Amino acid sequence: MNSGNFQFEYGIFGSISELQEEDAQLLEQARNVTQYAYSPYSNFKVGAFAKLKNGKTVSGTNQENASYPAGICAERTLMSTASSLFPGVGIETIAISYHNMNGRSDAPVSPCGICRQSFVEFQQRTGSTIRIILSGMEGKVLVIKNASDLLPFNFSSEDMK
Ligand code: THU
Repeated sequence: MNSGNFQFEYGIFGSISELQEEDAQLLEQARNVTQYAYSPYSNFKVGAFAKLKNGKTVSGTNQENASYPAGICAERTLMSTASSLFPGVGIETIAISYHNMNGRSDAPVSPCGICRQSFVEFQQRTGSTIRIILSGMEGKVLVIKNASDLLPFNFSSEDMK
């Protein structure tokens, strides 16, 4: 038997003040837009803010629904917005934050599985990798170089050829 191995490196920062200026601005905006989340069911407000390859910025927040599965995460709201306004343009860096109205918001949380899958396809179709900054409203910040790192063995259209 042979064995495989998967590992990836990511950056760990003590707080937003340790980030380079542009990253700090993106995270600040992600934290700011959490206020626009529509999340009366979970009370968990997620904000995403990205700089695109064309220099433009877009935001996204989670939008819930009384029919729970109809809700959409902040990350996919952002990707839909980016793709609608600037079709085919890659995302350079996306910052993701959250405000948990029922608890703490001081540690990074990472994107759900569906958003990881969507990130991978967004990368493939735009031909550019997505850098991800993760943090709560305060505290530690993680920086991931390539969204695909979060979804090893991903399924894609390539598999259907
Ligand atoms: N949520 C996001 O917007 N992004 C994530 O990466 C994780 C979860 C939202 C979905 C739902 O509205 C709320 O957070 C609680 O799961």
